[in-house]
Amino acid sequence: MKIYIDSANVKSIERLTEYFPVAGVTTNPTILVNEKKPYLPLLKEIRGVIGGDKALFVQAIGNKAEDIVKEAEFLAEQLPGKTIIKIPVTDEGVKAIKLLAQEQIETLATTIYTPFQAVLAALAGASYVAPYVNRIENLGGNGVGVTAEIAQLLQAHGLNCEIIAASFKNIHQVQSVFLSGAESATVSPDLIEKMIEFPSTATDVADFKKQWQGAYGENCETIID
Ligand code: G3P
Repeated sequence: MKIYIDSANVKSIERLTEYFPVAGVTTNPTILVNEKKPYLPLLKEIRGVIGGDKALFVQAIGNKAEDIVKEAEFLAEQLPGKTIIKIPVTDEGVKAIKLLAQEQIETLATTIYTPFQAVLAALAGASYVAPYVNRIENLGGNGVGVTAEIAQLLQAHGLNCEIIAASFKNIHQVQSVFLSGAESATVSPDLIEKMIEFPSTATDVADFKKQWQGAYGENCETIID
């Protein structure tokens, strides 16, 4: 089970990497453009923050398979470490996934709305597939159900491909995809922060502290002495 940060905001990535057990960072063109910085220095800065062992996902934007392959080779060379190329599941995208598998460049098939898109990408050699949970639900579909069916299909047919569920608007969706068999989810910084927040936890902690201080003083060192 892994949680990725779905953001290119360096401050958020620094904080979440310091505090939480995150496995890496996923980006997409929108996420990068939102930071209003040149994309390559920004990606290198993110790589510097997370280190070479954590995964960094970067999306290719070419339409033709040959262009996607060139972009993937460029990004893999420019961003040493565990860099994975995100490729949308179009026909050209699936062809690019096949070509990159021959070069041992890892790929994630993205913008997945149906179970069979995920299956084709996995058969083509994608290491990861990303169903777009909330976007499916915005279309009246069942994003968690699609993720569950992908998990069943990958497992039943022994396909060596991991689900990184994406596109969430609330924690319940994230929890549901994990319960449905997704190995991983990529989540925006604000939702990751919400995973730990609960008002009763804060009030319980404050009560414990108050009682402690009433009996022993400011902190633990007081009684050790
Ligand atoms: O990783 C894909 C994800 O960023 C899409 O999320 O919230 O734009 O639907 P969203």
